[in-house]
Formats: sequence, C-alpha cells, structure tokens
Amino acid sequence: MKKIGLFYGTYTGTTGNVAKRIAKELGEENVDLHNIKEDGALMDQYDYLIIGTSTWSIGELQEDWDAFMPQLEDMKFAGKTVALFGTGDQVAYPDTFLDGMGMLYETFQFRDAKFVGFWPTTGYDFTSPLPLFNHDNFVGLAIDEDNQPELTDERIKEWCKILRPAFGL
Ligand SMILES: Cc1cc2nc3c(=O)[nH]c(=O)nc-3n(C[C@H](O)[C@H](O)[C@H](O)COP(=O)(O)O)c2cc1C
Repeated sequence: MKKIGLFYGTYTGTTGNVAKRIAKELGEENVDLHNIKEDGALMDQYDYLIIGTSTWSIGELQEDWDAFMPQLEDMKFAGKTVALFGTGDQVAYPDTFLDGMGMLYETFQFRDAKFVGFWPTTGYDFTSPLPLFNHDNFVGLAIDEDNQPELTDERIKEWCKILRPAFGL
C-alpha cells in the first residue's frame, strides 16, 4: 500500500488541526503529516498527496506555502493524485474566501496533477471565484472553522469517503 503525504501550511494552527483530523479519519497509519514550513522537499516521494492551506491578508496564500512556491514550481506531478483542502472565513472575507486553495489548484494543475476530492458549494455563502471548479464545486474540501466549526467533523468524514477509493484505501 502506498502512503499518503499530507502537506499543510498553517499560521495560527487551524489548518494543522484540520490536517490531523483528516489523517485520523483516513487512518493515521495511512498518512504522513508534514508541515510545509519544514518538510516541503519530501513531497516528491509521494504518489498520493493531500495539500492544505489557509488564506491570509485578504486573498494571499499562507506564508509558508508562499515561501515554498519557487521549489513547488520546479516539481512535476504527472501520475500523482492530489486532493486539496482549505480553511478560511467566508463571513469576514467572502470575496477572497479560500483563495489560497484556488492558487494551489492552479499551481498543481499547471504541473499535471490529477485531482480528486472536489466538494459542493452548497451550505456556504461567498463570492470568490478562485476556489471554484465548474461553477458549483470547490476545487477541494472547504472548511470554515471561524463560522461553521460544528460542520467540520461531518465535512471531513464525507470528504474522506470520496478520497478513500482514489487513494487505494
Ligand atoms: C487578517 C486576516 C486575513 C484573512 N484573510 C482571509 C481571506 O482573504 N480569505 C479567507 O478565506 N480567510 C481569511 N482569513 C481567515 C483565515 O484564513 C482562517 O482563520 C484560517 O482558518 C486560519 O488558518 P491557519 O491558522 O491554519 O493559518 C483571514 C484572517 C485574518 C485574521
């Protein structure tokens, strides 16, 4: 069985906490958790990737992802399966909700990744176009711990059901 590499960037710890909960749901033995701040160079080792980021400064990528971008732009993801998740605040930042996740989607897409784990936009209220796939889906799992923390467990559970077959679990 191939292991999944989960790489996340986090500023106040929210995305790191969601990353742990995703790993727990998929089975901790199946997932290696990596903070992008320290472990980005290990990304090449995995065929199965879960990639998580928050959004800061009104539409900016989380700063550790931003710092990693030059290395990411040198990587190739052909033959690799990638699932994205993002954390954000749709009430305070509706115009840039989850823009960081949208930016990572474009970056990985340009480098030939195969994506899984698109997620419906039902139940969210925002206007940002960047994290969208085909108008009514997000490019990955959308988490809003600032306004909808009570929905996070169920969202993670449902999303992991979609991921399991794609990651051979
Ligand atoms: C100054 C500031 C700017 C933010 N900008 C955005 C934004 O543009 N879009 C968004 O979705 N969330 C935004 N957020 C919310 C954070 O992304 C959210 O709280 C996230 O869960 C933080 O995760 P982290 O602690 O893992 O970095 C912002 C928060 C702050 C305090």
